[in-house]
Amino acid sequence: MAQQEDVFKKIVSHAKEYGFVFQSSEIYDGLAAVYDYGQNGVELKNNIKRYWWDAMTLLHENIVGIDSAIFMHPTIWKASGHVDAFNDPLIDNRDSKKRYRADVLIEDAIAKIDEKIEKEVAKAAKRFGESFNEELFRQTNPRVVEHVNKRNALHQRFSDAMNNNDLEELRQIIIDEEIVCPISGTRNWTDVRQFNLMFKTEMGSTADGAMTVYLRPETAQGIFVNYLNVQKTGRMRLPFGIAQIGKAFRNEIVARQFIFRMREFEQMEMQFFVRPGDEMKWFKFWKETRLRWHKALGLGDEKYRYHDHEKLAHYANAATDIEFEMPFGFKEVEGIHSRTNFDLSQHEKFSGKKIQYFDPELNESYVPYVIETSIGVDRMFLSVLCSSYEEQVLEGGESRVVLHLPAALAPVKCAVMPLVKKDGLPDKAREIVNDLKFDFSTHYDEKDSIGKRYRRQDAIGTPFCITVDHQTLEDNTVTLRERDSMEQTRVNVADLHKLIHDRVALTSLLRRLG
Ligand code: GAP
Repeated sequence: MAQQEDVFKKIVSHAKEYGFVFQSSEIYDGLAAVYDYGQNGVELKNNIKRYWWDAMTLLHENIVGIDSAIFMHPTIWKASGHVDAFNDPLIDNRDSKKRYRADVLIEDAIAKIDEKIEKEVAKAAKRFGESFNEELFRQTNPRVVEHVNKRNALHQRFSDAMNNNDLEELRQIIIDEEIVCPISGTRNWTDVRQFNLMFKTEMGSTADGAMTVYLRPETAQGIFVNYLNVQKTGRMRLPFGIAQIGKAFRNEIVARQFIFRMREFEQMEMQFFVRPGDEMKWFKFWKETRLRWHKALGLGDEKYRYHDHEKLAHYANAATDIEFEMPFGFKEVEGIHSRTNFDLSQHEKFSGKKIQYFDPELNESYVPYVIETSIGVDRMFLSVLCSSYEEQVLEGGESRVVLHLPAALAPVKCAVMPLVKKDGLPDKAREIVNDLKFDFSTHYDEKDSIGKRYRRQDAIGTPFCITVDHQTLEDNTVTLRERDSMEQTRVNVADLHKLIHDRVALTSLLRRLG
């Protein structure tokens, strides 16, 4: 675990050193849980968004996109339930004056018991070697059984408290489990209180009577309130979907793990409107479709798992997360939710407008049901970055840091390098750049030794390096070096475009999705 934490620290500093992610307002000592994307980060992020957008809008003829405003009428958040129920349970330690999420403190305590169980299993596996029967050991070892029983009882008590919104019980669990403040080491806890996560601001001058508006905490509501506009103007028939990418804001109290939990972040959400009664069929469809989208990137199938929700959000009748194995454990990257007709019905009620669909097959009108897929761009970015990072020791004792980014997502697709800065090689290299730059993000680099230049490109995940040497001037061939294998092949300049395209085009990823 400590080793994984070290790797994560290295990834965070690599992200800064190579222009992927910077702390916001760094020269003013930063702003907590807010980050900026640098010159390479923005390209990687844009490529992730393009992959999602095209997978939604090109591959599904019944999905269209919108781009709604961040500011919306404040009643929308009353209708959606966010004003009353978008809360985190918070608890303060009186000695350290630090504030925590009560649910996170308890989840951490559960995770500690899980760790103890896994440690026992790992110890026994080492002791028994080949003959180890893990399943039998888990079922019969008295220490493991005791931990499992304790864990399950605690988990049940915790879920009940969360589902019943029982704040006193949450506090009691913290007391009973003897959870201490990591800073003060004491158990001097306050009561648990609910804290709303929405940011507020004022719209209009006070003389006109300013109105309190919220920075949207999810992009989904912008889709719901445009449902009728899109359905009517696009003459959409059920089932159909509306996709949107945009910023969302949450006043997260426990903001940690770099860009995993931020106060300003970006979501890619799609609401799929279906006939009531069909929602479970579509829930299953989107669960599978979204996992296929993730796996097509080739980051490793074993790094994904589903986590079905026990505590459902106020609007959902089924929900699952797609979790990805980060260096700090399996974590939610995407949620797939069956949101019933809750949101549209609420907007009908609060706006007084009829929001219904006339189903020509059934010859009746109803409020559609909704399946939502909701993924955080920044979390997706983090999962791609973490799983791509590798420190390699090469033959001869040299080493390199390489990002094995999926080629279609890489910020730079190829780098063209004259072997030396003379003899007309730079001119030839520029000529190649000028040809490739219309289709691929292409770098030109003539500084330092060729080895150093390769390392620089490896560190930002550039799939191809093209080296121009004296032979190029004679026969119009170059060396094409591939990032992962470091293999170098001699190819004709005329073939470069196709060779690069075949590997880096987004189309090749999309084709895997069918
Ligand atoms: N419309 C449903 C919705 O917003 P959510 O589970 O609260 O559901 C969806 O959020 C996704 O948004 C999460 O799976 C995660 O990837 C991302 N996300 C949520 N809060 C985030 C935060 N504070 N920082 C970064 N990403 C976040």
